[in-house]
Amino acid sequence: MSPSGDLAVRGLTVTYRRRPALRAVTFHAPAGSVTGVIGPNGAGKSTLLKAVLGLVRPDTGVVTVGGRPAAAARRRTAYVPQRSMIDWDYPAVVHEVVAMGRYPHLGLLRPRSGEDRRKIDEALDRVGLTEYASRQIGELSGGQQQRVFLARALAQEASLLLLDEPFAGVDALTIALLGTLLRDLAADGACVVVVNHDLSTIDTLCDRLLLLAQRVVAAGPAAAVLTPAALGAAYGAVPAQLAAAMRQPSNGASPRAASG
Ligand SMILES: Nc1ncnc2c1ncn2[C@@H]1O[C@H](COP(=O)(O)OP(=O)(O)O)[C@@H](O)[C@H]1O
Ligand SMILES: [Mg+2]
Repeated sequence: MSPSGDLAVRGLTVTYRRRPALRAVTFHAPAGSVTGVIGPNGAGKSTLLKAVLGLVRPDTGVVTVGGRPAAAARRRTAYVPQRSMIDWDYPAVVHEVVAMGRYPHLGLLRPRSGEDRRKIDEALDRVGLTEYASRQIGELSGGQQQRVFLARALAQEASLLLLDEPFAGVDALTIALLGTLLRDLAADGACVVVVNHDLSTIDTLCDRLLLLAQRVVAAGPAAAVLTPAALGAAYGAVPAQLAAAMRQPSNGASPRAASG
């Protein structure tokens, strides 16, 4: 995968109507890895993704992708928004939503090519939705809808993927499929950043974590982030689900978790 999706954020501060959502956030998400962003409701997780995408304007801070300004990497940046932010009644056919992933590759005058069509079909196949290509997205289950958006990201051949709570309210099959696909994409060199409310998948999915509560509370391998002190600082108390995750042996010694 050419150019690198390596994401670096330095000193990022975002304010909504004088209320700070992010304060001086600095972190690095290496290409070839999956970075999980966790933190309580209102911690600024969605705002962080939107700032990387240029959808909200930061007060201060610098975002680079592959060492260049993030704006230069938009074509190669895929975004899977939080499901609750999407209008599912909007009439759109699955195939067309996935085809949107090819738009950045089309010049103003270049029509869709055989290669575009192949990438779209491949993406639908990878998420197991070939048979649903001509359905309205509003007719699909939550998990299928989430897979449509992942297929769009696949068709885009992005080197940086930003996913906002992709596991929220989806079925077990979709969770497993998404997890495997995200790991494969990272293995191919992509930088994957996933806001992950589903803490049960953290250990297998993420190489590193970023714990946010407006500011960066902790960042690094799961074992270094899922500590009572850090979780207490972010959540006020250690959530039960995280306490369970901490009791499980960490992946810290596996070759995958050790890289990146
Ligand atoms: N468009 C907006 N206008 C005003 N405040 C917002 C807007 N978007 C988010 N916020 C506020 O910013 C804070 C962070 O929100 P968000 O990034 O959505 O957090 P998270 O995704 O971690 O739950 C919250 O207090 C939220 O209410
Ligand atoms: Mg959010």
